[in-house]
Amino acid sequence: MTASNDSDRTPHAPDEPLTIGEMSRRTGVAPSALHFYESLGLIASTRTAGNQRRYARHMLRRVSLVTVAKRLGIPLSDVQEAFADVPLTQTPSHDDWQRASRRWKRELEKRREGIERLERELTGCIGCGCLSMKACGLLNPDDELGTHGAGPQRLQD
Ligand code: FES
Repeated sequence: MTASNDSDRTPHAPDEPLTIGEMSRRTGVAPSALHFYESLGLIASTRTAGNQRRYARHMLRRVSLVTVAKRLGIPLSDVQEAFADVPLTQTPSHDDWQRASRRWKRELEKRREGIERLERELTGCIGCGCLSMKACGLLNPDDELGTHGAGPQRLQD
């Protein structure tokens, strides 16, 4: 009996699925990370008769986008949301990716606004230094601690 592995595979047709080794080489992502992404539903594979994973070629784009998201510090849960409407088991259409792109862009805009707000508050707080739980938006944004009751909420934890 001969077992098929990555090294003895011959070049294949452009629509032929990829082995996990080929996915790893083409994306630069370790097989263990590909398994993890698969467990999160970010990518999917099929199995051969010999129970080996095979990845449709459109999974390359998904893995590349996950890699970019990680570099930007975007949590995988956000990537899951962005991919929510992109078909997993069939090749996504241009429109599918456009929808995901718009969703992603809205998410990035929210993050950017949050970072800019934090930057403004931090700049003010560095100059201020009062550390007031009432007045400082950085220590107690929107008086969040006030909703937990009166008194020193942080000391009660
Ligand atoms: S330290 Fe004074 S407002 Fe934040």
